[in-house]
Amino acid sequence: MTITLQNISMKFSNTTAVNQLNVTIPKGELVSILGPSGCGKSTTLYMLAGLYEPTDGAILFNGKDVTKLTPEKRGIGMVFQNYALYPHMTVLQNIMFPLKMHKVKKTEAKAKAIEMAKLVEIDHLLDRKPSMLSGGQQQRVAIARALVREPEILLLDEPLSNLDARLRLTMREEIRRIQQALKITTVFVTHDQEEALGISDHVLLMNQGELMQFDVPQNLYDEPNHQFVASFIGSPPINYFEGEIVSGVLKTPFGYDISFEAPDQPVQIAVRPENLYLSKSGLHREVQHVERIGKDTLAVIGTDEDKIRLFLQKEEHVEVGQVIHVQANQADIRIFQKSGERIYVKG
Ligand SMILES: Nc1ncnc2c1ncn2[C@@H]1O[C@H](COP(=O)(O)OP(=O)(O)OP(=O)(O)O)[C@@H](O)[C@H]1O
Ligand SMILES: [Mg+2]
Repeated sequence: MTITLQNISMKFSNTTAVNQLNVTIPKGELVSILGPSGCGKSTTLYMLAGLYEPTDGAILFNGKDVTKLTPEKRGIGMVFQNYALYPHMTVLQNIMFPLKMHKVKKTEAKAKAIEMAKLVEIDHLLDRKPSMLSGGQQQRVAIARALVREPEILLLDEPLSNLDARLRLTMREEIRRIQQALKITTVFVTHDQEEALGISDHVLLMNQGELMQFDVPQNLYDEPNHQFVASFIGSPPINYFEGEIVSGVLKTPFGYDISFEAPDQPVQIAVRPENLYLSKSGLHREVQHVERIGKDTLAVIGTDEDKIRLFLQKEEHVEVGQVIHVQANQADIRIFQKSGERIYVKG
């Protein structure tokens, strides 16, 4: 099922939760909607589900306009943040419930529910009540229940946010496995960039109701088209340096110039922490702080107001208080206008 969002907006009295979103979610893909709290992720998902009718624009499934269809008529399965399992029902009854509501024969419903329970690997827990399950197991029941009617689209709203870090990791891999096994078009809402980049075919990054970038995960990281994207993606965050384009030339803090076909203007020069390296020349700053995090050593240099972060190589050692020189290759530098738009290097 290909999902097309045609210029959809959602206005609540005085808030524009989603503003003129245009995007096509390819058939069979897992697409994450990512962005900060309040940016319109859930609202977008609810419009796909048919729980909200957009105030403007159209939603198409395989080219067919479904904007006015009720949730039941859309052929979707949905999992919410809190799972919403029925506490008095067993796992099997929970999974069978949507089929029962649609008057599927009991033997058939049971067989289908067991098949789904096997897919999500909880078929040994069928007689338990939800209160007797771990968070991850409850999550699997919710997914099985969402899938039992064989929807063509699976919608997930922060399905892992109630789980601890380790279980989140396992469950996100599970969601990807199940999605790939069924080749079901899936839209996954999260505010966790690692989760989104980790399992998605494409990521839809939003800010304040607007689409910032719809792209494959690697491009979001390597080729952000806006300063918001560059800053939102990546941890530790990307570094910025002030610069200015004068007569088509930008003097970088690293001692070399870059040419642009752009008007004179102040710009932000952005470099990721892994793309700064120690050298004999270039920018020099005092070392503030050094952190060893597992295999990585992160150095924080500069002042509190102007912190720069870089990863050191295994054999490199720096002391707090020492002044070091750092460099970046031109290929690793991204330039943004003050308005946030990316400026691309000539050639
Ligand atoms: N029913 C509603 N009535 C009025 N305003 C709403 C309603 N639902 C959402 N909003 C507003 O719309 C904006 C987007 O909300 P939404 O729930 O889509 O954000 P979100 O990206 O899912 O955030 P979170 O990560 O916190 O779940 C917010 O400013 C929110 O306050
Ligand atoms: Mg939300």
